[in-house]
Amino acid sequence: MRLLTVGVLTLLSTVVHAQRFEGLAPTPPMGWNSWNTFALNIDEKLIRETADSIVANGMLAAGYNYVVIDDGWEAMERDSEGRLVPDPKRFPSGMKALGDYLHARGLKFGIHNCAGTKTCAGFPGGRGHEFEDARTYASWGVDYLKYDWCSHGTANAEETYRTMGSALVAAGRPIVFSLCEWGNNKPWLWAKPIGQLWRTTGDVTDCYDCQGVYAVGWKQILDAQVGLEQYAGPSSWNDPDMLEVGNAGLSLAESRAQFSLWSMLAAPLMAGNDVRTMSSAIHDILTNKEVIALDQDPLGKQGYRYMTHPGKEIWVKELSNGEWAICFLNTGETDLKLRIDWSHFSFLKGTHQIRDLWQKKSLGTSERPMVNRVAAHDVLLLKLSPAAH
Ligand code: GLA
Repeated sequence: MRLLTVGVLTLLSTVVHAQRFEGLAPTPPMGWNSWNTFALNIDEKLIRETADSIVANGMLAAGYNYVVIDDGWEAMERDSEGRLVPDPKRFPSGMKALGDYLHARGLKFGIHNCAGTKTCAGFPGGRGHEFEDARTYASWGVDYLKYDWCSHGTANAEETYRTMGSALVAAGRPIVFSLCEWGNNKPWLWAKPIGQLWRTTGDVTDCYDCQGVYAVGWKQILDAQVGLEQYAGPSSWNDPDMLEVGNAGLSLAESRAQFSLWSMLAAPLMAGNDVRTMSSAIHDILTNKEVIALDQDPLGKQGYRYMTHPGKEIWVKELSNGEWAICFLNTGETDLKLRIDWSHFSFLKGTHQIRDLWQKKSLGTSERPMVNRVAAHDVLLLKLSPAAH
C-alpha cells in the first residue's frame, strides 16, 4: 500500500512538473541566429538566403539545423485579436510560409520573443499572452523559442518562465525552450524542468575580452562559466551565449578559440556570422566535425577549467568511451611555448593516443612529455583516447 502511494505520488509529481517536452535536445542545440551580425536588420530574404547557404555549405550536414530569427521580426502592435504578427514589410509572406521554407530544406524554425511586456528592441513581449502566443508559434511550425528578459518589471523569473514553458506544452507542438534570462536569477538552479537551455550571462560581443556597455568579450563570458559545469547534462544546457566566430572584432585565432572553448563547455553552438559571405577559414572552423563532436558528445558533460597559470588556461572535458578533450588557451599576447607533462593530468589512466583536432593529426601517445607552441589567444585542442592494449 505504502509503495503504491509513493508510486502514485511520484507519478503525480511527474505530471505536475511536466513543464517541458522531453527528448528535444539530448545534445546541445546547434544552428544560426540573426542577432550577432544583423540585429534589427532582418527580413525574410535574409533568412531564406541564410537557410540556403547553411544547406549548401555543409553546415546543416555538420549539425546546424536551427535557424533562429532574433528580435526585430514583429510588427509594433499585436493584431485586433491580440495575436502576434510579423512586420508586414520585412516578412510579407508571413511566418508560417517561412517555417515551411525552412522545414522543406531539413532545417528547424526558431523565433525570439520576451518574457516581459516588450522585447529589448521595443516590440510586443509575451507577458500575459503566453498561452495564445504558444498556440501562434505552434501554428507557424516553430521548433525553438528564445525567450528574453527585457521589460520584466517586478516579475519573478522562475514563475514567468514556467508559465511560458507550460504554455508551450499546452500548445502541443514540441518546441525547444531557450531561456534568455542572462543568469540574473541563477536559472541553472531552477530551469531544468522548464526548458532545454538557459543563458548564464549577459550578451557576448565580437571581441576577445573587451567590456562594452551591453555586452562583453567571449573570454569574460568563459570566465563566468567556472563552477556551472555541475548543472549541465543531456537535455539541460548552460548557454554562454552565441558564437562570434567570423565576426569582425575577432582574429582568426580568437574565432578558433571561442569555437573550441564553447565545444568544451557543451554549449549550444549558434553561429552568429553572415554565413552567406564567410571566408573558407571561418567555414572550416564552424564545420570542423571533430571539434563539433566534443560539443555533441552523448555523455553530455560540460568541460571545466582545470588549471590557470599566468598566460594560459587548461580546460578539460570528459567524453564517452573513456576519452578526454583537453584545451590549452593562450591568454597572453605573445606565443606560448607549452611543455606538457601528462603525469599532471591525474584523471588519465594508462596510455592515451593524442590527436590535435585543428591540425587533424596524431601527436603520438601520452607516454612522453610533449612540446608545442600556441599563438596569442589561440588554442591547442587535443583529444585523448585510451591506447589499445
Ligand atoms: C537580449 C538578448 C540578446 C538578443 C537581444 C535582442 O540582449 O540577450 O541575445 O536577443 O536581447 O534584443
